Amino acid sequence: MRNFTFHNPTRIIFGEGEIAALDAYIPREARVLITYGGGSIKSNGVLAQVQAALGERTSFEFGGIEPNPTYETLMQAVALAREKNVDFLLAVGGGSVIDGTKFIAAALKFDGEPWDILAKRVEVRDALPFGSVLTLPATGSEMNNGGVISHRAKGDKLPFRSDATYPSFSVLDPTTTYSLPARQISNGVVDAFVHIVEQYLTFPVDAKVQDRFAEGLLITLIEEGPRALAEPTDYAVRANLMWTATLALNGLIGAGVPQDWATHMLGHEITALHGLDHAQTLAVVLPAMLSVRRDQKREKLLQFAERVWNITHGTDDERISAAITATRVFFERMAVGTRLRDYGIGGTSIGVLLAKLEEHGMTALGEHGDVTLEVSRRVYQFAV
Ligand code: NZQ
Ligand code: ZN
Repeated sequence: MRNFTFHNPTRIIFGEGEIAALDAYIPREARVLITYGGGSIKSNGVLAQVQAALGERTSFEFGGIEPNPTYETLMQAVALAREKNVDFLLAVGGGSVIDGTKFIAAALKFDGEPWDILAKRVEVRDALPFGSVLTLPATGSEMNNGGVISHRAKGDKLPFRSDATYPSFSVLDPTTTYSLPARQISNGVVDAFVHIVEQYLTFPVDAKVQDRFAEGLLITLIEEGPRALAEPTDYAVRANLMWTATLALNGLIGAGVPQDWATHMLGHEITALHGLDHAQTLAVVLPAMLSVRRDQKREKLLQFAERVWNITHGTDDERISAAITATRVFFERMAVGTRLRDYGIGGTSIGVLLAKLEEHGMTALGEHGDVTLEVSRRVYQFAV
């Protein structure tokens, strides 16, 4: 196992009815800006619960944060927060709203052009305090310090992270997810699955606990994902999915182990260029990525085959192929297409995707730093 420091300051408040607990974790005198997306929190009653919990506090609202949140929209929220002299942000929604709120929190304390946080990777040293009410289990943003922001005008989608952008708390009430459309349930399961794989399917470093936690989370997604589609208001299923997605990317399983993230970086370029949902890009890229890099990932692929998929017969190569196929079949069972052509995209844009990867410095990705543009080209070609 590698050396590591693990510190996660986010308080998790989990369970049905817990939105009311907001009252205990936001200062009474706070001036709160509630940030949200396209309006799902109005129709499913979550906003009303949040307002009731805030009680007499002074609060304002900023809606309209889009999936794959944009710099352009978020800077409007920064202006509103300044105008209203807000001192606490409350993100209510999915990963896009929480990521966007992290950017708003950082931009409010940033000296200079906030896009440099993404484009030039300028360090974020301070941010306004914020909490979240999660409504879509997927990204882990509710308990991590990262965010992914898009710049519409430039056609960029880039990540940032900072110790200053952990939520101070997140409320996870599984009943808020009952109103999710099937497509978003599927997206969440696929995204969480790939987060685990990015931290698990690299090479062995004898990190037994991290491996077994990761395998347990993957098996839970395989069991509960299809049930969430079939039984949309089963509380236990939703609760298990919600906590799995959080644990998939809160730093725990990634501590002390090598990490990959090449699938995510290639996926971000597909979203920026073609507008696919984040998880759709992952479902397309991951099977191709594993196929192209099966030699480098050999030992962990064999472990994944046996412990996650119960594949024990056949030669090493046959078991690895079967595990990659099982992964693809699982995504398709979750009704997420695993080929670019499923989304009407052929191979003609691969040149542009590679040029964007190069522009963003994504030329030596993966746990060995050996995912060059040439390897990425093969992955994109394989994904068509
Ligand atoms: O905008 P509203 O009206 O709320 O509707 C949203 C949105 O249309 C809807 N939704 C959310 N909760 C709902 C609901 N609809 C009904 N009932 C509910 N309870 O779902 C749609 C998608 O929401 P979004 O927040 O975009 O989805 P997700 O949570 O999958 O977030 C995706 C974003 O997170 C980034 C992705 O790149 C993408 O931009 N990621 C963030 C990460 C992180 N911070 O660590 C890691 C991930 O790898 C990922 O990159
Ligand atoms: Zn993701």
